[in-house]
Amino acid sequence: MSGGRFRKVAIIGLGLIGSSFARALRDLDLAAEITGSARSQKTCALAEEIGVVSQSFRNPADAVRGADLVFLAMPVESTEAVLRAIKDDLAPDAIITDGGSTKGNVVAAARRVFGALPRGFVPGHPIAGSEQSGVLAGRPDLFARHKVILTPVPESAPEAVAKVRAIWQAMGAEVLEMPVERHDAVLARTSHLPHLLAFSLVDTLARESENLDIFRYAAGGFRDFTRIAASDPVMWRDIFRGNKTALLSALDHFTDDLAMLRRAIEQDDSEGLLGVFTRAKAARDHFTHMLAGTAYAKTMKQKDIEYRVQPGGKLAGAVRVPGDKSISHRSIMLGSLADGVTEVTGFLEGEDALATLQAFRDMGVVIEGPHDGEVRIHGVGVTGLKPPPGPIYCGNSGTSMRLLSGILSAQSFDSVMTGDPSLSKRPMERVAKPLRQMGAEIQTTGERGTPPVTIKGGRQLKGIHYDMPVASAQVKSGVLLAGLWAEGETVVTEPAPTRDHTERMLRGFGYEVSVAGPTVAVRGGGRLRATRIDVPADISSAAFFMVGASIAPGSDITLQHVGINPTRIGVINILRAMGGDLTLLNEREVGGEPVADIRIRSARLKGIRIPEDQVPLAIDEFPALFIAAACAEGETVLTGAEELRVKESDRIQVMADGLAILGIDARPTPDGIVIQGGQLGAGRVVSHGDHRIAMSFAMAALRASGPIEIEDCANVATSFPDFTGIARRAGLLVSVQEKD
Ligand code: S3P
Repeated sequence: MSGGRFRKVAIIGLGLIGSSFARALRDLDLAAEITGSARSQKTCALAEEIGVVSQSFRNPADAVRGADLVFLAMPVESTEAVLRAIKDDLAPDAIITDGGSTKGNVVAAARRVFGALPRGFVPGHPIAGSEQSGVLAGRPDLFARHKVILTPVPESAPEAVAKVRAIWQAMGAEVLEMPVERHDAVLARTSHLPHLLAFSLVDTLARESENLDIFRYAAGGFRDFTRIAASDPVMWRDIFRGNKTALLSALDHFTDDLAMLRRAIEQDDSEGLLGVFTRAKAARDHFTHMLAGTAYAKTMKQKDIEYRVQPGGKLAGAVRVPGDKSISHRSIMLGSLADGVTEVTGFLEGEDALATLQAFRDMGVVIEGPHDGEVRIHGVGVTGLKPPPGPIYCGNSGTSMRLLSGILSAQSFDSVMTGDPSLSKRPMERVAKPLRQMGAEIQTTGERGTPPVTIKGGRQLKGIHYDMPVASAQVKSGVLLAGLWAEGETVVTEPAPTRDHTERMLRGFGYEVSVAGPTVAVRGGGRLRATRIDVPADISSAAFFMVGASIAPGSDITLQHVGINPTRIGVINILRAMGGDLTLLNEREVGGEPVADIRIRSARLKGIRIPEDQVPLAIDEFPALFIAAACAEGETVLTGAEELRVKESDRIQVMADGLAILGIDARPTPDGIVIQGGQLGAGRVVSHGDHRIAMSFAMAALRASGPIEIEDCANVATSFPDFTGIARRAGLLVSVQEKD
């Protein structure tokens, strides 16, 4: 190969895969010469006639002479015979790769022929089949945007692997590497088993009905499920035989589960059925999102999303922002642990709360939805959680991990929790430490005590009195939740008031909680009674609009049904102290939480010294408040807020950097920031994957002199799905750029 081009590529087998490979080589000019080999004379002639190869031969040895790349694309069962036939005619520098769907048997066949394998031998598998077959079915773009798995053997030379990788990448494929055995185990489940089932179902039904009459009534479900039963029978026979061990293990597992479903139907076990179907639906939706590259848990973050916001505009109208994140998390947790079915409305369908939901599904809880904010949780009781099948993935969500730490510390099974790169940097010892004092065996990672968090099950916890060194609702909640299973009383005293949703919701579930000033206590051993939860709109999401409307002249917006729990209203207090015009309307209580509509009109803000007692009450709203400070007259000083440095990003530094780029004098201090109000300019800022930073800078454009571009905004989906849609309708001139 010179300059990425092969001098001669020989393709053995000119079916769908082989002829597509040839077409891609030809169209991309990746080889000076392409020869082919096929068993049938007709295929050989056809391949030459339509020009996919320059010459083709029935004897593969004739095709490979002088080739520096040989691609085996015939049924895998012929591998040994073909390798024997070409062995003596292979050029010494030839790279040999293949496209077979099983790898263990290809490697075994090669070992029988060669003994020690040639250094150019690099087994591979393009996952790009189709139910069509034959030389005419080939397409030059068959491999584009598909995965190719390479399974190098110990003998494979790194240069050979690199060249095979490069050729697939040139064809637009995404190349992965894994060991031979892993490949076969994965493919047995994701490809071979479904094909086997499709063949089997169609055959069963076809034999049941003599004249195939029932197929006349078969609708889309049958068609979708059985499309792959039209695949090439010989190829699939070879695959099933070639991957026998892994396929049998997958088939046994499936047969057991199918028998369980049969029993559930026979015994009218409605919950059992719902459990399987809701889990399957969630998994399948996740898979669809993965394929489409749209929002959901892990996948969203791989996307690069950027906001561009034009300067000016004003906010107006009536807006309902999504449900409260803190309350949504807790509704899933307590609903899962309750006896009976809990119905939730207004649930936040953001990635953080969905991570919690998935965690409880993984622990065997049947959860219907979410669908338009409605969720039905079939509680399993305080002793009903089951071991999750693997590590619990908490994504970006500190709340999931810290609250779950308390719950998992008291379970009979072991567990591990992991998170995304941002969560993996956040401190977990703050919750692990008091849990250890209660008797939990919980480990964090590294010197800084970060995730993954590993918990041993089977510990009997005992109540403690914990004086929290930091004002953290997550730590308080983690300890109180562990207290549900602890012997005696678990008492937490907080240094400053933090959000009390856990306490309120426990009471809503009929669990006794005593509160005396800064001290909260629960006794272990009680039970939770299922209830209804109406999640109010999240004041932390509303905060962006409060700030936006305050700074943008002519704004008049009403935010509906916003939670105004006294432990959360720091943002209202601070904006009012700065001269903001905010009116609470229609104050009411919904399911134990105070709620109001909030009207905000633009106002001339002035800089203030933010009272330290407001810090925990506005802890998530400071990025937005810093934008208000940048637009205010004079100086705003924040102290006592070092906690901001360990949120989804270091919010003091990241905001100071962004404000400086926009021409604002913002001086970070160890525990806060000093901001001089001024004129926001245009610029490009980085959110560091922090949802609240991204949304804050978006609002800044309302008062900027030029456009603001914000990098790395995908994580906005963790707390505020459709932020840009809602903001645009309210008057923000924001557009979204997506890059793959
Ligand atoms: C939360 C508590 C706060 C807050 C977070 C949600 C909760 O964190 O910042 O967004 O739901 O309990 P800390 O407990 O770390 O202050």
